[in-house]
Amino acid sequence: MKRRPAARRRTTRGGPTRAALAAMTSLAREARERARAPYSGFEVGAALKTRTGEIVTGCNIENATYGLTMCAERVAVFKALSEGLADFDAIVVVADSKRLTPPCGPCRQILWEHCGDLVVHMSNLEGRSRTLRLSELLPMPFDGGHL
Ligand code: THU
Repeated sequence: MKRRPAARRRTTRGGPTRAALAAMTSLAREARERARAPYSGFEVGAALKTRTGEIVTGCNIENATYGLTMCAERVAVFKALSEGLADFDAIVVVADSKRLTPPCGPCRQILWEHCGDLVVHMSNLEGRSRTLRLSELLPMPFDGGHL
């Protein structure tokens, strides 16, 4: 059997099935359409899933004082937590960019705190995608275990 090199393999990193990731991606795309991004024009959608199948979406929400901008990923995490959800296994991030959009540094830290080593699936509007684990994006994280 011919195998593609590890970096090119379309693995789901042991996370949700491809079908589940596809369903999450379509919800993240819908959420992206609700983005409030008048300053950057960069619209992002996210979909966060619990192990039991609940999906919560988020979009980026900007502010005229730029620093108050909230990323789509954090909106999804905070919405989910405030609804009492826990035990997350994957997040999808969708943006209209040739280069896939990974969570920014602060979002990686927030995701680690509340979701642990979940699967991060990045997708663009052309349908290109890549799946990684958060630990690949945030190696050697600082967390409560250090305190
Ligand atoms: N943004 C996200 O929502 N998620 C990311 O992963 C990267 C960046 C938002 C923040 C800001 O509204 C815009 O994209 C440009 O940085």
